[in-house]
Amino acid sequence: MQPANTKQLAAERAVTYIQDGMIVGLGTGSTAAYAIKQIGARVAEENLQITAIATSQRSEDLARELNIPIVSFEDIDKIDLTIDGADEVDEQLNLIKGGGGALLREKVVATNSRELIIIVDETKLVKRLGKFPLPVEVVPFALAVVKRQLEQLGCTASLRMQNNEPYVTDNGNYILDCSFGEIQLPAQLHDAIKAITGVVDNGLFIQLAKTVISAYNDGSIQLFT
Ligand code: A5P
Repeated sequence: MQPANTKQLAAERAVTYIQDGMIVGLGTGSTAAYAIKQIGARVAEENLQITAIATSQRSEDLARELNIPIVSFEDIDKIDLTIDGADEVDEQLNLIKGGGGALLREKVVATNSRELIIIVDETKLVKRLGKFPLPVEVVPFALAVVKRQLEQLGCTASLRMQNNEPYVTDNGNYILDCSFGEIQLPAQLHDAIKAITGVVDNGLFIQLAKTVISAYNDGSIQLFT
């Protein structure tokens, strides 16, 4: 038997929550891309009437290709529902995000959404966060001082690279990927990192996800709330 496409399964289940008239937040990453494609299919086939706001330039480009109407925060107040992926999810539904480099816009969209649905495959579910290095978005000018202060919090921080150059986010910043190992107190670590001047934000999403939809290799789906 062919193993299920778990990312697609979780994404397609999440898209069933979207209703006519909603303002929808579009996540970033390979799982979120399946959701955007399914939203595009519903717009085309069911004439679903929505507007959307994207968490990255690449998600916005994909949405536009699929004729999903895109708005910005100038045009709207609250987002009704955001569907996004994650790199890790713990038992309290805290998340590590930012593997795809879009953590800042993802957090702006998540914190301005009435509801955040996270879509993952079973490999992302963990007891404690931290095996996946925590992405921290940093102002380039402050890189060296921020790196030192992050390492004083107990991690090894490495500058994310792309094509032999520092990776630059959609906001013109750098990313330090911070290997902490198991994170015992994610909310406290989140606040400690945010307090470093020169840090723009970090990939810990504490108590923001309302629902996590996880899909399994046998084709089953489980909801965590
Ligand atoms: C993007 O910045 C991330 O937060 C993604 O949501 C995360 O990396 C999950 O990506 P995949 O769906 O590609 O695993």
